[in-house]
Parts: sequence; C-alpha cells; structure tokens
Amino acid sequence: MSSFSMLRAEIAGIPVLELARRFGTPTFVYDASMIRRRVDDLRRFDTVRYAVKACSNLAVLALLRRAGALVDTVSAFEIRRALAAGYQPAGDVPPIVYTADIFDHDSLELVVERGIHVNCGSPDMIHQYGDRAPGRNITLRVNPGFGHGHSRKTNTGGPQSKHGIWHEQLCDCLAAAQRHDLNVTGLHMHIGSGTDMEHLAQVCGAIEKAALEAGPEIRSISVGGGLPIAYRETDTTVDLGAYFGLCDAMRKRLEEALGHAVALEIEPGRYLVAESGFLVAEIRAVKHQADNLFYLVDAGFNNLARPVLYGSYHPISIAPADGDMTRPEVEAIVGGPLCESGDIFTQEEGGIVAKRRLPRAAVGDLLVIERTGAYGAVMGSNYNSKPLAAEILIDGGTPHLVRRRQTFEELTADESIPG
Ligand code: LLP
Repeated sequence: MSSFSMLRAEIAGIPVLELARRFGTPTFVYDASMIRRRVDDLRRFDTVRYAVKACSNLAVLALLRRAGALVDTVSAFEIRRALAAGYQPAGDVPPIVYTADIFDHDSLELVVERGIHVNCGSPDMIHQYGDRAPGRNITLRVNPGFGHGHSRKTNTGGPQSKHGIWHEQLCDCLAAAQRHDLNVTGLHMHIGSGTDMEHLAQVCGAIEKAALEAGPEIRSISVGGGLPIAYRETDTTVDLGAYFGLCDAMRKRLEEALGHAVALEIEPGRYLVAESGFLVAEIRAVKHQADNLFYLVDAGFNNLARPVLYGSYHPISIAPADGDMTRPEVEAIVGGPLCESGDIFTQEEGGIVAKRRLPRAAVGDLLVIERTGAYGAVMGSNYNSKPLAAEILIDGGTPHLVRRRQTFEELTADESIPG
C-alpha cells in the first residue's frame, strides 16, 4: 500500500476497525515509530527543539523527550505540560524555552520562578523580564523583515507580522538587555510554518548578519521551524542534507568570526508529528445534493480546523467496514456534523468546496483523515458542545489511550448557574 493509498486497513499494524471498535470515533491515532524516525532525520543539528504547540499530548511529549528532543513552548500551561512530561526546567542547554511576543502574568511568574529560558519576541518582554530576573541569559527572536508560510496566516515574518524583534531594532534591544543586566546568548528566527528551501536559505543569511551585529556573546543560533511535509503526493519537501549543509556552513563562518563554538538548533513542530497522526471518523450519512455526493462523518472542524482555517488539504482514506478493499472510486465531498456550512474537510482556501476522488463508501465505513498529527487535536474546540476527541498512541504494536474522550461532566465542569 502506498503511503497515499485511499483504502486503509491498518495504522501502525493495528486494524482501523479494531481501533474504532475499542476506542470509538472520532479519535486521533499517533504512530510512535514515525515520530522517532522524524527526530532521527534531524540528528545532525546540535539540538532538535520540538514546538509543543503542534501536538501537546503528554504522551507525545514524553516520547519526544526520550527520543532526545528538547522543547519550545508558548504559554504557561505548555511549560507545565513539558514539566509534567518529565522535562527539567533548566540546564546547560535549556530543556524548555519559552518563545513569545508577550508575557501574560502567569507565564512571567512561571519563567521567573522555575528558571525557564526565555526567547524574547518584543522589546517589552526584555524590560519586563529584566525587571524581574536580572542576571539571566536570554535569546532574542528576530523578525528579519521577510517571512513565508503555506498560508498568509502562517507567515510569521515581515512588516505585517506581529512576531519577533524587528531586525532594525536589534541594536536597541541589545542595549536594553544590557541595561537590565540580561545576557543575550543567542538569536532565533522563525519566519513561518510550511515554508520552502528558498526561504529557509534566506533565513540562514539573515541570521548570520544579525549574529555578526549582535557580537561575541552569541553562542547559539536557532533557525526556527517551518519544515514542510508532503500533504499531497506532488508536494515538494526540503532536502534535509542540503538544508543542514547551509546552516552548518553559516554556523562555521560565525564560529570563525566570533572565535568560539556556536550551537545550531532547529525548532520544528509539523515535521516531527504531522505524518504520525490519523483522525479516524465514522461515516454516519451518505447523501446526494443534486450532482454532489456527500460523506458526512462524526468528526468536524471542532476536531480538525486546518481545512476551514487555511483551506488545507489532508489525504483521506476509507477503511471499509466489510473489509472489501476493492471499492470503485467516486467523487465525494467530505463534511462533518457541525451546524455550519464551512464544516467541510475537502475545501480549498477561501472556502471553495471541492470534490475528492475516494472509494465508494457507506454508512458504517470508517474514514481516516491523514497527516493530522500536527495542529490537529491541539486546535480542537468544544463548538456545538462536541467533546474533544480521544487520542491513541500506538507504540510497539500496542495502542495506548493517551487522552480519554471528554465527558459531558468535564465539558460543563467550569460553568455554573447563578442564584
Ligand atoms: N517555532 C515558532 C516560534 C513557531 O511560532 C512555530 C509555529 C514553530 C516553531 C513550529 O513551526 P512548524 O515547524 O510546525 O512549521 N496552525 C498552523 C501552523 C501555525 C504555526 C505557528 N507557529 C497550521 O495548522 O498549519
């Protein structure tokens, strides 16, 4: 079976029908071996720092920790997830980094109290952190003046982006850090998610320029995340050997210029977890509206928001309930249960509903939305009072329930009726 096959009998060796029978639907299923393989792909970098936002399940974080990845976090509770998954708060190479453009009150308290390394994305963060924790090391996230992502909404560089310290203000920020007795020990750039080799190469140039400006205290460079994965058979990905070569050459030039070692970090989210994830749903209605055939499943954009937010394409396969792997192909539109017309998985940017060639299917067949390990479960919501999906991690041939499906009581636990 090719990795893009439209009929799928199993995930990581376990029959899809068995997973659905045991754990119900909709359920995210993660293949641990795929995550490990992806960490291994990046071992040439000194540090692989996983962007927790892509998939923050504690079991996934613990797996990544054991595989040797460190983490990047964006909120107080992401930091607490990393701690709960066994990461130490601090170390020579910080195991947990907090990268953001603001501190809310909780995150500032937590990083000060636990000694979490901070990567500042705004001058205000430098002032606020300096007031609370003088003497500490920080890194600066620099916006190099350009960015690129798979969608305008995932471009995190350039003048229209709120992210990072504007490159022309780097000198002022270094001076501000010095006034606060903060040591700027590294620089970071992340220009967008789902970018390409051309733009990643530009980052190398921009970070080198910034590091030469920042001077001899710079001991670490993070080239950010952004590595694309193939959602379609025709998608191009990045040649990791060539990319590492570029980064490494840049690092060596810096070492030469600065006169000491410079560590090289990469900070992917999507690359490490996207391909490991499968959203398993059940077809609950098959209907014709004029010339359109709809498969309506029990997962919606409350479970996977990428199609409605960005028009993102995900491979879709069918696991036939009767095991018949010879279904003819038809053109179908795949939608969910939500009371909203945008609840369509086969849509393009701008909300254009698109047909997809898929095996003929019936109520009771399972439908698997693939490559959903990154920005899938984490972007789930309770819209229409739908519970968050269950999550399963398959490791060594055993499926582990790593998140129970939410119950009604959990869904309403924070609410109260006055009087
Ligand atoms: N580092 C920083 C500072 C980031 O802001 C991000 C992603 C990453 C690393 C990881 O980027 P990755 O390697 O995953 O491309 N929800 C969107 C993606 C938003 C990414 C936000 N920042 C999506 O579903 O495509």
